[in-house]
Amino acid sequence: MQEIEEQKRYMKEVKKINEGITKKYYILTMGCQLNENDSEKLSGMLEEMGYSKVEEEKEADLVLLNTCCIRENAEDKLFGKLGELKRAKTENGIIIAIGGCMMQQDHMIEKIKKSYPFVDLIFGTHTLHKFPEDLYQVLNEKEKIKDVLDIDGEIYEGLPIKRDSKIKASVTIMNGCNNFCSYCIVPYVRGRERSRNPKDIMEEIVGLAKEGYKEITLLGQNVNSYLRSEKEGLRPKFEEYEGIHSFATLLRKVNEIKGIERIRFISPHPKDFTQDVIEAIRDGEKICKLIHLPLQSGSTNILKKMNRKYSKEQYLKLVENMKKIIPNLTLSTDIIVGFPGETEEDFEDTLDVVRKVKFEQVYMFLYSRRVGTPGDKMEDQIPEEVKHERFNRLKKLVEEQMEESNQKYVGTIQTVLVDGPSKNNKTLLSGRTDSNKVVIFEGPQNCIHQLVKIKIISEHMWYLRGELIEE
Ligand code: 5AD
Ligand code: SF4
Repeated sequence: MQEIEEQKRYMKEVKKINEGITKKYYILTMGCQLNENDSEKLSGMLEEMGYSKVEEEKEADLVLLNTCCIRENAEDKLFGKLGELKRAKTENGIIIAIGGCMMQQDHMIEKIKKSYPFVDLIFGTHTLHKFPEDLYQVLNEKEKIKDVLDIDGEIYEGLPIKRDSKIKASVTIMNGCNNFCSYCIVPYVRGRERSRNPKDIMEEIVGLAKEGYKEITLLGQNVNSYLRSEKEGLRPKFEEYEGIHSFATLLRKVNEIKGIERIRFISPHPKDFTQDVIEAIRDGEKICKLIHLPLQSGSTNILKKMNRKYSKEQYLKLVENMKKIIPNLTLSTDIIVGFPGETEEDFEDTLDVVRKVKFEQVYMFLYSRRVGTPGDKMEDQIPEEVKHERFNRLKKLVEEQMEESNQKYVGTIQTVLVDGPSKNNKTLLSGRTDSNKVVIFEGPQNCIHQLVKIKIISEHMWYLRGELIEE
């Protein structure tokens, strides 16, 4: 691709500017795994340009903030950080760059320009690949740069990437979202759904397997719409590749890749969870049986206002069908508490679904008003104290259920992918089950990065304790 060749030229130019000096960068990633994957790409480009990563921003010549705007607390975090960085900017002349979803919002850019004029570079989600060119301009021309596009960016292939882990890798399969849930800012900042070419995805994963990666997470705002816009003629079609024409067929093909032992994916939408995907999960022995199925609310009324396009009953029916077809299925979910108009009765419906489904994990969020979304304009906003009170009730129920679900593991034998030494006790090892539970056990160093069998001997709130079974 010509565009990427050009960026590679800029990478060489920046490297020349940095010749003989070891420049250091610090990167802060906010938000979801898609953003983390973008940060790995930014890190890849920076390393190519002669920068090396540091964990302390005090040591850095360049600080890069990759932002998220899904909830308000990310904004507070960004402004706090910028306040801290002002001194480093005046004293040491560091370069400050801000990218990511928040920079796709005009009012945020205005605020940064006004209140934090020392920021050198602002770039958006659609111009990530142009980071080398933008950085070159900043270094060479000593200019302040704003490089944000409103139109949907292409998915560029061939950018360098520096991954955080040696065994687990995220692979973006699609970008953007067409669903417009009424609380959500994502469709406005990430644009319309664009799938990646199946050939590029497969080649990337085969390459990762060769490098020794064992677990792959397929990423997208709406993974089960993979190739839908292309099929519906909204986007140009790709050339046929190994019979991949949908998310289900992609899952089946990834499952065949030698060396890959585990496959995960986030996030699917319940309305698009078709039978072929359920069957592909059942048949794919490497596909983890923990499925993330965002509920958002258990009330049909609220789901309608949220524009989720399923009812409480449809969600429960889908879960029932999935449990019937996929042996050992476990589920995790996202729930928003306090969406406009949520009555006590609506909230009870959410608790009811949680009680019925028995999720392995629930990610709970207080509803956060996002400028430009329909939810923000709704009149019946819920007072903060009511949101908090409901949030705490939900949390209590989730914790009770977690304890119950942890107990089920005691006495079972689990396959665990070993990450490395445990963070809190370096003499022990830590890994994850298929259902993503942390397991701590004693074992030899050569278990690290391998799949091992562990007998679970006790349960604790955030981890399971196990014993290695000699094969
Ligand atoms: N307020 C609170 N939570 C939100 N999410 C998305 N938008 C909002 C919002 N405005 C949550 C949803 C989504 C997860 C990634 O973030 O639950 O699934
Ligand atoms: Fe946001 Fe809904 Fe799209 Fe998910 S499906 S990214 S919640 S609009």
